[in-house]
Amino acid sequence: MTVRPDIASQGTPTTVENADITVVGGGGHVGIPLVLAFAEAGLRVNVNDRNASVLDTLQSGKLPFIEAGAGGLLAQALASKRLVFTTAADRISTGGPVIITIGTPVDEFLNPVRKVVQDCIDALLPSLADGQLLVLRSTVFPGTTDWLAGYLKDKGRKLNVAFCPERVVQGNGLKELRDMPQIVSGCTPDAEREAAALFGRIAPEVVTVTPMEAEFAKLFSNAYRYIEFAATNEFYLVAKSAGVDYQRVLEAMKHNYPRAKGIPRPGFAAGPCLVKDTMQLSAFARNQFGLGHAALLINEGLVLHIVEDLKRDYDLGKMTVGLLGMAFKAESDDVRASLSYKFKKVLASHARAVLTTDPFVTTDAELRPLDDVIAKSDLLILCAPHAAYKSADFKGKPVFDVWGHLEGNNVIR
Ligand SMILES: NC(=O)c1ccc[n+]([C@@H]2O[C@H](COP(=O)([O-])OP(=O)(O)OC[C@H]3O[C@@H](n4cnc5c(N)ncnc54)[C@H](O)[C@@H]3O)[C@@H](O)[C@H]2O)c1
Repeated sequence: MTVRPDIASQGTPTTVENADITVVGGGGHVGIPLVLAFAEAGLRVNVNDRNASVLDTLQSGKLPFIEAGAGGLLAQALASKRLVFTTAADRISTGGPVIITIGTPVDEFLNPVRKVVQDCIDALLPSLADGQLLVLRSTVFPGTTDWLAGYLKDKGRKLNVAFCPERVVQGNGLKELRDMPQIVSGCTPDAEREAAALFGRIAPEVVTVTPMEAEFAKLFSNAYRYIEFAATNEFYLVAKSAGVDYQRVLEAMKHNYPRAKGIPRPGFAAGPCLVKDTMQLSAFARNQFGLGHAALLINEGLVLHIVEDLKRDYDLGKMTVGLLGMAFKAESDDVRASLSYKFKKVLASHARAVLTTDPFVTTDAELRPLDDVIAKSDLLILCAPHAAYKSADFKGKPVFDVWGHLEGNNVIR
């Protein structure tokens, strides 16, 4: 791959040989903001990702998904030739740290898949040089970092292993990387010191802990957020069953009352991280993580509750239902683990037809324009509270809105 000549105008091109750092999984949601943050800090970055098409997109100056502020930084990084794009595991730069940001899913038993990390490391290993800093940044099962250090040692390799979890909110990673402290841990003092120096280049503050502490800090943060969403969702269901508008209760609770300020609004809590990480923690706790499992029941069950309520109030079998917003959260184009698709699936057996729309999602051929969905639907459900829906004309059709995002006589909560 070559950098487009109209963009590449300054500097010595970055190569695998001269890159200061490699980000493996550098074309992903965590990888891209990180790559751009390091490039902005003046580093030459080897963007390694096995997904060649995502790298082609980046190399053409475009982003594969929505990431605030990333377009300008990508153009700058390309123009200053700070990036080199590689797809193979044997194209790792040995002149600086290697950061792993690959996906770390749970399996069909909701258990973590350590093999993903092991396979990735096994493939990289022949290209890594002893003495290099190897940073895990993906969210991992507690103990993975120390396991990795032992695994490498058993193979006679002398790599400095660190775990520095990513904690940014998806879509706003660049701002949060600049504003938020970075948790850093290392399996040796050298690994910790080098990782702290590396992240000190892009983060305002570094917090140093042990690898297990860092792994727990990441998982606890996500599980806590997931549990918070579950708490407000359960309050919503309790209020609703009493015929009370929970939004009015929430407003009353939060008004000039600091201790209630952080209570989130109800909504569909899902996406690629919160459920998965809550389940990683549960797997670690031998499934004895009652709050985590309760949160899963409530957050995943909310969709089913709402469908049951709608079935009671409407003759769904004779109705076309329009789903507004298929991304897993507002102003995002990411459909991974989006509960909008759970709605679609469940309603397929209850409604006459289900139509879907989203202003941001580009990966779903079944999506229709908003006006078309409004015109053809008898009932609408706000799944992702995108800002654009606030001013949409729903033609007086009933819109179910759990979020408290919309106003009007036709809005059902
Ligand atoms: N998305 C978020 O906002 C977020 C926030 C904090 C932490 N995390 C964690 O970060 C990790 C990555 O999440 P993501 O959302 O960026 O995933 P993603 O799927 O968007 O990105 C992962 C990237 O890694 C690439 N990849 C996978 N295996 C590879 C390999 N062996 N070699 C080279 N490239 C490989 C994929 O092609 C993909 O581009 C996960 O552990 C996730 O839990 C994500």
